[in-house]
Amino acid sequence: MNARMWEHPATQANVDLLVARGVELVGPAAGELAEGEIGVGRMAEPEEIAARVEAILGAGGGALRGRRVVVSAGGTREPLDAVRYLGNRSSGRMGVALAREARRRGAEVTLLAANLAVPAPPGIEVVETPTAADLERAALERAGADVIVMAAAVADYRPAEARADKRPKDGAPWMLELLPTADVLGTLGASRREGQVLVGFAAEGAGPDLERARRKLLAKSVDLVVFNDVSRDDVGFDVPDNEVVLVSAAGEKEVPKAPKERIAAIVLDEVQRLLSEG
Ligand code: CTP
Repeated sequence: MNARMWEHPATQANVDLLVARGVELVGPAAGELAEGEIGVGRMAEPEEIAARVEAILGAGGGALRGRRVVVSAGGTREPLDAVRYLGNRSSGRMGVALAREARRRGAEVTLLAANLAVPAPPGIEVVETPTAADLERAALERAGADVIVMAAAVADYRPAEARADKRPKDGAPWMLELLPTADVLGTLGASRREGQVLVGFAAEGAGPDLERARRKLLAKSVDLVVFNDVSRDDVGFDVPDNEVVLVSAAGEKEVPKAPKERIAAIVLDEVQRLLSEG
């Protein structure tokens, strides 16, 4: 392709759409083009394309080949009536990036999908888990997995009652009673099997309170807590980037701001380290 065709806004908009749908591009490369011009538009070298396809399909002994990995993603919605719910701003991007990366590394992946705003990656099992109770059920059914990553923002409270119809407006206040939901990660941690790796996320405001993260590690009996600041606009909930601190028994590892795909790769490197320790 000629560089002007590649750079054209229509081409770039189509490329952005494909990438948002989970398509990965290999190239184009820069160099000599068909008409003798120099620029970006060359097809990537066949070896490079083949290597990437192999990595994506987990061929050549992906590092997580033969491992069962469960990832929860998105945010649960707890119904108030037939049309209303209590929810949160999680888009599911972080969990989807983790699921895609685990698949790339050869794992057999199940995605517990809580109201995703982004498409699920191909080649994995997707289980719809719109509420905390759905997510709890699906996660406990798969509690024997080698790796469980709880990236979903699970509601800590749900309305005590959900009306089957739509509550009509009557001008009077609507008092809600909220009941605590089950802590899925805590339950998984309490009954974990040996050699399993459990990963939790901690959504905190106003800078990392690592003491709290360390306490969570122990209290929930998990191997890794991925700490992210949800008070910022440029990272965390519902944006493409994240900036996290990985907290494990080995200590803390700060991961500077990067696309969630890159963060996912770093989290899974850490998971692999923990798996190798048994
Ligand atoms: N989680 C869960 N079940 C819940 C709530 C949360 O499994 N009912 C999981 C989340 O998926 C996440 C981690 O637990 O991996 C977050 O832990 P939580 O203690 O809820 O932390 P925060 O929400 O960050 O903090 P807080 O204690 O203030 O609620």
